[in-house]
Amino acid sequence: MKHLISPSILSCDFARIGEEVRMLNESEADWIHIDVMDGSFVPNLSIGVPVVEAICRESTKVNDVHLMIVQPEKYLKIFQKAGAHQITVHLEACTHLHRCIQEIKETGAKAGVAINPHTPVQMLYEVLEDIDLVIMMSVNPGFGGQKFIYRTLHKIAALRNEINSRNLKTLIEVDGGVGLHNAERILQAGADVLVAGNAVFSDVDPKSVIHKLKSIQSEKISL
Ligand code: DX5
Ligand code: ZN
Repeated sequence: MKHLISPSILSCDFARIGEEVRMLNESEADWIHIDVMDGSFVPNLSIGVPVVEAICRESTKVNDVHLMIVQPEKYLKIFQKAGAHQITVHLEACTHLHRCIQEIKETGAKAGVAINPHTPVQMLYEVLEDIDLVIMMSVNPGFGGQKFIYRTLHKIAALRNEINSRNLKTLIEVDGGVGLHNAERILQAGADVLVAGNAVFSDVDPKSVIHKLKSIQSEKISL
């Protein structure tokens, strides 16, 4: 499968959010990554339901909602109604992760689980069959524009092997510090989806960065 690109709207100009979403609609982006932060699970606040709803209303792409919030089970239906096609919750925020995954699926959205850089990838193995995607955090969540943590590459590779050995279709989405300087290595480790915020929106020509990220040719290599 050709890899997918999910630009993170967190780094856009929020004063021109409609235009930014329309720019992504015209680009080669596959998904739009929408980061929701609650100031509790992560040390930052971003956007809430009305803004997510406005983004989704304007978007013609797959709306990829990443919930960095405590008690995400309270808000699953609300975000699906706002337009989320896929909802990802953090493993570290869910005491009853299996139940939360079932509840995401009951809304009709695809279900994802995110793990922080310090969380062992094996923590996902009991739910891999149940989910559509994994978000592998390659920075500590909370802010755009941080440096990629290279030690997470071996986790991507381990998860790729596990997914392949079980013949699953679960997608590996890598989130944080991804750009043209490291995208090829991340794809070689086994990623299916690249999130890019700062790399896309800090450039004068975001569509061209998306095009370049999409055009990378890579073969999976063993790490
Ligand atoms: C970080 C967010 C990311 C962030 C990525 O907490 O989950 O999605 O927006 O931004 P960059 O690509 O700038 O690291
Ligand atoms: Zn994210």
